[in-house]
Amino acid sequence: MSIIFLLVLIFSSTSHSCWVRQPKSATPPTTSSTPPPIPIGDCKCPPLKMYSMNDYISNNEGGKYLKNQQSWNPTIGVDKDLCTFNVQCDPIPGVPNYYTVAFRSNGSPIYVSLKIRKRSLKNKCVQINRVINNKNTFVEQPRYIGSLDCRPHTDGTHQWYFHDYPVFDLGFACVADVHSFKCPIIKIGDKVNFTERDPWARQGSLYISECPDNLYPMLHSTDAYITTGGARKPESGIFEELFCVKVNDTAFAWYFANKQLNSVWFECHSLEEVFGAGSKCVCGAFPQINNRNDLEKYDRKGEYKDVQIGANNWSASCKFNMECEKGYTAVVFSANYDPIILTGNYITCTYNPLSNWLRAWFVNSVRVVNPAGACLLLPQTP
Ligand SMILES: *[C@@H]1O[C@H](CO)[C@@H](O)[C@H](O)[C@H]1NC(C)=O
Ligand SMILES: *[C@@H]1O[C@H](CO)[C@@H](O)[C@H](O)[C@H]1NC(C)=O
Ligand SMILES: *[C@@H]1O[C@H](CO)[C@@H](O)[C@H](O)[C@H]1NC(C)=O
Repeated sequence: MSIIFLLVLIFSSTSHSCWVRQPKSATPPTTSSTPPPIPIGDCKCPPLKMYSMNDYISNNEGGKYLKNQQSWNPTIGVDKDLCTFNVQCDPIPGVPNYYTVAFRSNGSPIYVSLKIRKRSLKNKCVQINRVINNKNTFVEQPRYIGSLDCRPHTDGTHQWYFHDYPVFDLGFACVADVHSFKCPIIKIGDKVNFTERDPWARQGSLYISECPDNLYPMLHSTDAYITTGGARKPESGIFEELFCVKVNDTAFAWYFANKQLNSVWFECHSLEEVFGAGSKCVCGAFPQINNRNDLEKYDRKGEYKDVQIGANNWSASCKFNMECEKGYTAVVFSANYDPIILTGNYITCTYNPLSNWLRAWFVNSVRVVNPAGACLLLPQTP
């Protein structure tokens, strides 16, 4: 099976030559602002798309909240023989900070790249995920996106799979992150030791927050307490996915991993106090929903208020399946995504696509924040 390395390269005069680039097209550039998709050599998977056009982002179910951010196309380099590609977001004038974002039709955007695999790289390419102050900072280099590969799908086509789940219409855009200082002030709770991560970066979303022993730094929005998983220590207070988004010409809002936050505080709490469960695999809590009170807390739209709740025969770990009693279906609730009905895939606490320092829960290729699992008797369940 082909392994796809998603490599994100920073612009520099030297880095351009160190990885296989997409060959120049023989046809003259068109005046259309939508470039053609990039075919990946002999890979049978769909070509990668370019998604900077605001029409696409505005209509992308999970990503339309990004429609007012400045966006532009990355350069995608392809190695046909290896069936690998890299995605390079080159800087544009006036935008010192930006993300590389993967969009797809069947899930929320993914702020990329994943774990290090130096041995696969012959040259010293400088690769980026997120650029701050025109520099790629905070991560070891080089990086690649793991757990993404091309494989036969159940319908006979080939599709990209991310964490063993199909990702349809995979494509990329570079998305500016320049509004940090326009977002509402983040309030700081009493016990939090809160420091700017890189004062020189002039990037108001980058902080390190620390709490006294046994307490976890949490982003408190009106409707959620959010933890961020840490690779070095579970109580990491690095909220790498905090992003100030332009809502319209006058309003700006904080987002964390695709979730809009309101009235944000940094606070210190224990996981048990907030979630009724401790940290698993340094990703934070993954509690079991055992009764109607628990379910109501997570079932924000009330979709499951009348269904029976079954026994949970699972406990969270770095990679696990939710086992339910016969006839019951595993459903994962989260703060940043609709309930996910599992159809056999596992749940994993793995590298956060943005940072080596962080881990994150992934379910069916979606990065979920504050997940909780229930076994439910769904009407159509055989
Ligand atoms: C707060 O953080 C700073 C910077 O990391 C550190 O030097 C200081 O000792 C911390 N203070 C407390 C009370 O933890
Ligand atoms: C901008 O968004 C805010 C928050 O959603 C809303 O209250 C306001 O009416 C919007 N303003 C305009 C001009 O659309
Ligand atoms: C739970 O799992 C254990 C071990 O796999 C099994 O022996 C037991 O029968 C299961 N219980 C239920 C209620 O499914």
